[in-house]
Amino acid sequence: MERSPAGRRVLDADGHRTSADRPNDYHWWKHGVIYQIYPRSFADGSGDGTGDLQGIVSRLPYLADLGVDGLWLSPIFDSPMHDFGYDVRDYCAIHPLFGRLADFDELVDRAHGLGIRIILDLVFNHTSAEHPWFLESRSSKVSPKRDWYLWHTGRRFLGLPWRTCRRPPNNWRSGFGGSAWRLDERTDEYYLHLFLDSQPDLNWRNPDTEAAMFDQARFWLDRGADGFRLDVINYIVKDLRLRNNPYHPRLTFPRLHDQQLHLYDRNQPEAHEIVRRFRAVMDGHPETMLVGEVYPNEGCMEPEASASYLGSGNDELHLAFDFSLMETPFNARGYRKTLERWYAAVPREGWPSHVLSNHDKPRAMTRRCRGSFARARLLATLLLTQRGTPFLYYGEEIGMRDGRLRRHALRDPTGRKYWPFFSGRDRSRTPMQWTPGPNAGFCRADAKPWLPLNTDHSGRGDGRRGVNVESQREAPGSLLSWYRRLIEARRAHLELTHGSIEFVDSHRKLLVYTREYEERRVIVMLNFSRRRRSPPDGVLVAGARILLSTHGSLTEPRADAPLEPYEARVVSI
Ligand code: GLC
Repeated sequence: MERSPAGRRVLDADGHRTSADRPNDYHWWKHGVIYQIYPRSFADGSGDGTGDLQGIVSRLPYLADLGVDGLWLSPIFDSPMHDFGYDVRDYCAIHPLFGRLADFDELVDRAHGLGIRIILDLVFNHTSAEHPWFLESRSSKVSPKRDWYLWHTGRRFLGLPWRTCRRPPNNWRSGFGGSAWRLDERTDEYYLHLFLDSQPDLNWRNPDTEAAMFDQARFWLDRGADGFRLDVINYIVKDLRLRNNPYHPRLTFPRLHDQQLHLYDRNQPEAHEIVRRFRAVMDGHPETMLVGEVYPNEGCMEPEASASYLGSGNDELHLAFDFSLMETPFNARGYRKTLERWYAAVPREGWPSHVLSNHDKPRAMTRRCRGSFARARLLATLLLTQRGTPFLYYGEEIGMRDGRLRRHALRDPTGRKYWPFFSGRDRSRTPMQWTPGPNAGFCRADAKPWLPLNTDHSGRGDGRRGVNVESQREAPGSLLSWYRRLIEARRAHLELTHGSIEFVDSHRKLLVYTREYEERRVIVMLNFSRRRRSPPDGVLVAGARILLSTHGSLTEPRADAPLEPYEARVVSI
């Protein structure tokens, strides 16, 4: 392992992975696969029932074997954990639940040794109310940090007496329910919190706030982090005049904040300027990467808004999440439409990314595949053969489903608030299922996992059970083996990582596209129906051979044979 003069741990020039013939424009974040870990739920190294950094270290060989190139860790920083780490109390300290700085250093060293990069999750929009910056800010109206957060006296209601009928400054609502403003008695002013009232929003119009936050990021870059996922990056700047958001009536009960168009509390042009300045910081650290979470308006597909954070393609984020694919129902036409719109939105110099599941949404295996492994194989193939960087969510590769949790087991503040109308996000955060044994090998048998395990981890895979790594690892027909083969195919075929993409007209239940790179071509055919379907005429020429098929033993080895129900077939020409 080389060390730069600044002491930054870097990868060996060639990385440790062997890759067919890596072209010059190879970037790990562009052509690799990124795996999201929810650290509480991945692997418990300390025996307390909560996942931690040593747990992740112990599972690095598994991740290397799966073939992923980068790990994005949801926040591991010191936090009172009201929003499970997305409320940061100290950006430069590791929460003791997860370990110490030395554990982080070890993780970076070991991961880099295996050719795996580490992406940290930075929350720019808000801090914890326990962060020293906020404690100072709220201490008095003349505190030097007062202007680091967003404070307001409020407004008068219908000319009634100020003391009794004071109102928040506007109609903005918190993502977790209620007004986004909270009156702080100490100084008799409201502060803004677009999430919990224990997550006050920072004032990014103050250059000191920006400088301080960028310094926290530098701390991790100097320690060897390879980049950041930027939490709700389009929220960081708010309308200067604090105008009311227009109403947008939709069926979103009980989450009323989803019934506003977020014209003024998000999506402000100045956020782009900040991202550009942060990109300049990142550019001083070669081969680092920024991926941003962009939520323009809840539940609406707005890939253009996500793509706008890629700037001209090389001056803002390296990658931006567009959640349209998650919102798209399970059908070939819908996926084609969504993907075409996303590709058209991404600037020419920019690069797309794709994601089906994360820690905020129900897992695709539950929501889209209804627990079916055949459907999961189809979606895995869709995700891993697109043009752009695929993001996997831990457990997706073994078909983990959302857990069924009772009210008393819920930990997520949104679930606790809205139960029984909305059960929150814990269901997609249950512990990783490593073995069929006690506690699924996530933690010791005598420990109590922080969230209950999904019971489908036990038994040996028959589709409904056996959802665990051990049972699937050696089984050639398992979902895990399919993910591994797809990732291997990406590594071996530059068409899949570097190639252009073109959709081919076909039967409405088939999704067919070609990936082409320097005269080489791969054709992907996905059958979204329960019937056999013939490939479209004219795409398969003589000499085409099947590279991968979910139905390897059923179909004839002919590339142009009809596709079996839910078959995913990748053909090379
Ligand atoms: C992002 C995170 C989510 C968190 C919220 C507030 O959307 O993904 O988990 O609750 O920001 O920080």
